[in-house]
Amino acid sequence: MYYEPGKTAHGLRYDPFKSCVVPRPIGWISTRSAAGIDNLAPYSQFQNLGFNPPMVMFSANQTERGLRKDSVVNAEATGEFVWNMATYELREAVNKSSEQVPPEVDEFAYAGLSKLPSRLVKPPRVAGSPVQFECAYVQTVRLPGNGPMGTIDVVFGRVLAIHIDDDALTPEGRLDITRLQPLARMGYYDYTAVREVFTMRPEGSRARAAGLEGSPDKVAAALAQGHGLVDNSKD
Ligand SMILES: Cc1cc2nc3c(=O)[nH]c(=O)nc-3n(C[C@H](O)[C@H](O)[C@H](O)COP(=O)(O)O)c2cc1C
Repeated sequence: MYYEPGKTAHGLRYDPFKSCVVPRPIGWISTRSAAGIDNLAPYSQFQNLGFNPPMVMFSANQTERGLRKDSVVNAEATGEFVWNMATYELREAVNKSSEQVPPEVDEFAYAGLSKLPSRLVKPPRVAGSPVQFECAYVQTVRLPGNGPMGTIDVVFGRVLAIHIDDDALTPEGRLDITRLQPLARMGYYDYTAVREVFTMRPEGSRARAAGLEGSPDKVAAALAQGHGLVDNSKD
């Protein structure tokens, strides 16, 4: 099949677009409003962007009434947000926190969640979530779209601090992903959880491998030792 979004019909019962880019990690974003109310919402249009420094983004379309989402308004107003890892265990709270409630409502309480204080920023972390990033707001890129919901605010942030539960790590010091079971969004109303992992390592320089790991220290060390210039796996 072939269709041109906005021009020709896909002819399917359900729109396939969001189901093509799967699974999407969930940016479970906590913010605090200028008035001091804590807010929490999931954003599956979320990603990490780079590792030195670590950067993340989430993308919010407007509401059906053409309003900007509270997470965007708060991040811009206060210059801070927190990313919390959503897990299979926390799935019901993730779902609950996606309800569009007025900005006066504390969405931690609404979703039945406890708060953990952050160290560098004011928005709290989700207790029970095994990993959180404290982030400084960097900028919003606003992309105009169609109708009240089409316009999106893509919010970029720099990761200032990372919390990882000691329990979330294996004895070798890796995140124990299949135990944590991070939640991810599929299309329609579907989700998946990461329960299977396999490993592949491409040929290439040590610096490139360090880049794949996302380690600024190892990249710097490899480059300092001249391991970034020769393109073979043995350097
Ligand atoms: C799993 C999940 C992922 C979501 N991802 C997005 C997203 O990427 N962008 C978006 O605008 N809304 C997304 N939503 C809807 C928002 O969570 C919802 O509009 C929420 O009320 C926004 O809250 P806020 O106004 O407090 O920021 C998602 C909902 C769920 C359940």
